[in-house]
Amino acid sequence: MQNFSYSNPTRLHFGRGTENDAGRLAKEVLGRAGKALVIFGGGSARRSGLLNRVLSSLEAEGFTVIEKGGVTPNPRLSFVRETVDWMRDQGVSLIVAVGGGSVIDSAKLIAASLEYEGDAWDFFDGHAKIEKALPVLAVLTLSAAGSEQSIRCVISHHGTKDGIGVECLRPRAAIINPEIFATLPKHQIASGVVDMISHIMERYFSATDATAYIDAQAEAAMKTAFEYGPKVFADPKDYDSWCQVSLVGTFAHNGVFGLGRVEDWACHAIEHELSGWNEAIVHGMGLAVIIPAWMRYVSKSEPARFVQFARNVMGVEAGATDEETIERGIEKLCDFYRSLNMPLTLKDLGAADCPIESLARHCCRKGKVGHLKALDEADVLAIYRAAND
Ligand code: NZQ
Ligand code: ZN
Repeated sequence: MQNFSYSNPTRLHFGRGTENDAGRLAKEVLGRAGKALVIFGGGSARRSGLLNRVLSSLEAEGFTVIEKGGVTPNPRLSFVRETVDWMRDQGVSLIVAVGGGSVIDSAKLIAASLEYEGDAWDFFDGHAKIEKALPVLAVLTLSAAGSEQSIRCVISHHGTKDGIGVECLRPRAAIINPEIFATLPKHQIASGVVDMISHIMERYFSATDATAYIDAQAEAAMKTAFEYGPKVFADPKDYDSWCQVSLVGTFAHNGVFGLGRVEDWACHAIEHELSGWNEAIVHGMGLAVIIPAWMRYVSKSEPARFVQFARNVMGVEAGATDEETIERGIEKLCDFYRSLNMPLTLKDLGAADCPIESLARHCCRKGKVGHLKALDEADVLAIYRAAND
């Protein structure tokens, strides 16, 4: 195990009705009331009444509130730029994100950009580093990306998607009321479950040894999502099951499953090319296509972790060869994806015509991706090709 230093300042406020405490939490974060910019998406939060409850709670604590809706899935840099131009010099002291990963990521980048004089894209193309950001309070409406506790921010711009991770982007508080997830469309529920499991897999599939404690925690979390994910897919009003799923979702990406080891993240890099190329592609669906292809490719040279995953997580019984065990584990994972109506090929994803050569080149523009097996452009292309079969 490697040395590590871990701090997670996100206060987690969880359970029924907790959105009504948004104002109180915001005041605790700032130490006073102030001007809050409330960011949301295309309308689900307004339709459900959640947005009004959050606004009322903020106003009841003395906040001046400015609303800005319109974040799209696979969120665009243009929304961030437009909002920053509008809000600069307006004395905003807090950003409140009411939404899923796209809204929270947009809020994070707005929070950093309002503390920086240049353009938001400077942080992604290497021209500037994020040194500070306004505090962000996340009110989660979709359990998936884990952005409510993560240091990451993923933004789309001109047909590409890029991510950055900086500690000061971690929201200062996250409100999770699993009742809110009852209105989610089924494909978003399923994509969210795939995504949260993948955030654990990206850390679990590591070459670092002597990580038994974190491995066991990760295996338990993945098994919980495999058990309760189908329950919320079948019945989006199943509050108790949502409690389990959303706890997995938020802990999956707050860093704990990566403690003391090198993380992988190849599947995310390869998927982000797809949802960057076509913003209609849902991130979790892209992952369902890429992950099995990546597992088959990388397990050829690095079998041990894949055997452990097949046995401990997917329940493949002992007795078969390593090769058979790995394939059975991957097949069980594919069966799980199928049961959630997830795509398994680029064709199923509606991306059979995607330019895989240029996506592979762009994916490796900064060098190899992944760590368990570091993948170059030819490797990434081979994975796209396998995902096309
Ligand atoms: O825009 P509205 O009307 O709110 O509808 C949204 C949107 O269409 C809808 N939705 C959300 N909550 C709802 C709801 N509909 C009904 N009821 C509710 N309660 O769901 C749609 C998708 O929302 P989005 O925020 O895009 O989904 P998700 O949370 O999966 O976020 C995906 C984005 O996060 C990035 C992804 O790449 C993608 O851009 N990621 C961010 C990460 C991070 N910051 O740490 C890590 C992830 O790996 C991921 O890359
Ligand atoms: Zn993800």
